[in-house]
Amino acid sequence: MKKIALTGDRPTGKLHLGHYVGSLKQRVELQDQVDQNLIMIADMQALTDNARDPEKIRRSLINVALDYLSVGINPDVSTIFVQSQIPALNELTMIYLNLVTVSRLERNPTVKTEIKQKKFGQSVPAGFFIYPVSQASDITAFKANYVPVGDDQEPMIEQAREIVRSFNSIYQKDILVEPKGIFPPKGQGRIPGIDGNAKMSKSLGNAIYLSDSADEVKKKVMSMYTDPNHIHVEDPGSVEGNVVFTYLDIFDPDQAQVQELKDQYQKGGLGDVKIKRRLIEVLNAFLDPIRAKHDEFEANLDYVYQVLQDGSEKANEIANATLEEVRDAMGINYFKKI
Ligand code: TRP
Repeated sequence: MKKIALTGDRPTGKLHLGHYVGSLKQRVELQDQVDQNLIMIADMQALTDNARDPEKIRRSLINVALDYLSVGINPDVSTIFVQSQIPALNELTMIYLNLVTVSRLERNPTVKTEIKQKKFGQSVPAGFFIYPVSQASDITAFKANYVPVGDDQEPMIEQAREIVRSFNSIYQKDILVEPKGIFPPKGQGRIPGIDGNAKMSKSLGNAIYLSDSADEVKKKVMSMYTDPNHIHVEDPGSVEGNVVFTYLDIFDPDQAQVQELKDQYQKGGLGDVKIKRRLIEVLNAFLDPIRAKHDEFEANLDYVYQVLQDGSEKANEIANATLEEVRDAMGINYFKKI
């Protein structure tokens, strides 16, 4: 079977190191291993809780595209497209909504958490509530069998699988394909925020962005959470839960030296400033080539929009073909001359 991978991001801001570790890195590697790699900027999904701020989504769309290209997603290999430009997705969503119950949607743990985090109270937008169904459309329209995502997206994949099974069994056609989630290796899919919070996120204000300048990175690392009990340089310090070391574990190419630093830190006699200096060096070395590409593409936005337009045209062809098969299977193709 052809290997088709599809994934996406909501354009609600710039992408950060958490996105890189949780998914961008895997995607760049994956693009050479599958027959077709599709990456979608999920602006419709972003609008489900940002309907009053479309300008934010518009602005973020181009920022996300720039971040993709800067980390090495290659538009000659991967198809990058924009969700709102693919009308077939909306039609599929309407069809799938009839295969899903309200109580099933209410049980989605990720949506539950988000509803709490976003403080919707009794005012959950209906579009937001049903976004897992719309996400099933994103995945199935392209017959994706692989969906590389972070762990929090597992319930969405499960929902999509259920819809595929229902559809194929009710309409007695093997049209839709059951997707499989590809998750980051255990324990490696997440990096903490600079404040020590388990999750790096824009809304928590604890992120280092892929497009941050060297100065911003320096400031952020200098303010990073370490070991609150490590007050004097000579005090023994803790490595566990120390964000600077967590980052060094992930990004420092010289792991032998990281081990030495850890040993020294735990014994005492190594100050926070020293380990932070090393991390600044490491992060800037990692981000420098990304920044250079970012500047290059930013100076050529026409090209970036063209990439999105070409990708969306290609995506439309695929999604329209699936929609036609779906309509045929259901018999809602009354005026089709066969
Ligand atoms: N829900 C995903 C997120 O918040 C974004 C997304 C939308 C997506 N459609 C998708 C991911 C389809 C994978 C496949 O990050």
